[in-house]
Amino acid sequence: MKAVTVIPSVPESLRLRDVDKPKPNHGQVLLKPIRVGICGTDKEIIEGKYGKAPPGSQYLILGHEALAVVEELGDGVDNVSVGDVVVPTVRRPLDCSLPVDYCPLGHYVEHGIWGLHGHAAEYSVTDAKYLVKVPKELIDVAVLTEPLSVVEKGIDVAFSIGGSRFDWKPKSALILGAGPIGLLSTMVLRLMGLSTTTVATRPPDSLKARLVRELGGVYVDAALSSIEGAFDIVVEATGSPQVTVDGLRHLAPNGVMVLLGVYPPGGVMNDLGNVLTDSVLNNKILVGSVNANIKHFELGLKHMAEAKSRFNDWLSKLITKRATLDNYQEAYSWTHDDIKTVLEINPLS
Ligand code: BGC
Repeated sequence: MKAVTVIPSVPESLRLRDVDKPKPNHGQVLLKPIRVGICGTDKEIIEGKYGKAPPGSQYLILGHEALAVVEELGDGVDNVSVGDVVVPTVRRPLDCSLPVDYCPLGHYVEHGIWGLHGHAAEYSVTDAKYLVKVPKELIDVAVLTEPLSVVEKGIDVAFSIGGSRFDWKPKSALILGAGPIGLLSTMVLRLMGLSTTTVATRPPDSLKARLVRELGGVYVDAALSSIEGAFDIVVEATGSPQVTVDGLRHLAPNGVMVLLGVYPPGGVMNDLGNVLTDSVLNNKILVGSVNANIKHFELGLKHMAEAKSRFNDWLSKLITKRATLDNYQEAYSWTHDDIKTVLEINPLS
C-alpha cells in the first residue's frame, strides 16, 4: 500500500513509499483513512526537527489528524463496527497511568508523530478504545476534530484552573493567531458566549479576517500594542515568544493565558521583572496545554454540530487546500494564506 513517510531527523526525507499493509492485533482495528489533515507538527517533522520512527522501522508514516472508516476488527473489539466512520485520538500511553494527555515525554507514543505510524496511508491500525464515532452529518468537516480537540482541552484547562479559585466568569478573550488553532479557538469561545478579538498578520480583507468576523468576533491585523484593554482569557497560537509576552500584558486581573504553540529556542526579553510582578499582583495564570483526551474529541464533535447550525458552512471554509496521495508534495507545502490542507486518501463509498 502507499504511505507518506519521513525519516525522522533527516530534513527533506518526505517520500511516498510502498509498504506492507498492517494487520490489527487484539483490541485493534484496521482503518481505511478517508483523509488526513496537515499541521505545523508535520512541518516540524519534515524539517527534521521533531518526530520518531516506531521501534524497528527506519521511517515514520505521517498523519495524526485522521478521519477513517473501520475496515476490519481485530479480536476482542466490540465498541465499533465495520463501516463506522471514526476519528482516532493521537496518543497512546506506554508505562503511564495518568490520563494519556498528561503522560510525560518518554512515556507515550503518538500516531504519525512519535514512535507510532500515522494514517497518511491507504490503511492504518489503531486501538479500538481510542476511536470516536463520527455522526453522518459531520463527516465533511470531521477531519478537523483532532485540532479542535487540542483547542477544547486548552479551553477546558483555562476554565477549570480559573474556576477552581472562585466563581470566575470570563467574558472576553484575546486569541493570538488565525491559523486552524486560532480560528477554532475563536469558534469555541464564541459558541461559549465570550466576546473575542483575534490578532494575526493577514490583512482585514483576507479569508482569515472574514472568517473571524463571520463568527461575530473582532479581527485585528495590527501590533498587539495597539490593542486597548485587557482580556479574561488569552489563547496563544502563534508560536512566537514575543507575541506571547505581549499577550500576557493584555491578560486581565485573575485571567488565564493558555499556550498552545511550540516556540523556537532562544529569544531575549526586556522588562521580564515587570511582566512577572504584574502577573503576581494580578493573580494571572499562564498554562501550557498539549494533546487531548477522548472527552475533548467528543466535545469537539458537539461544538462542530453547534457551529454548523449557527455558522452554516464556516467549518468547511477552513479547508483551503486538498491534495491526493499522488500529488502529496503539494499538501506538504505552506503559504501564510493556507488554513487547513487535507490529503484525500480513500473516497468514502
Ligand atoms: C498534536 C498533538 C500532539 C502534539 C505534540 C500536535 O500537533 O495535535 O496531539 O500531542 O502535536 O506531539
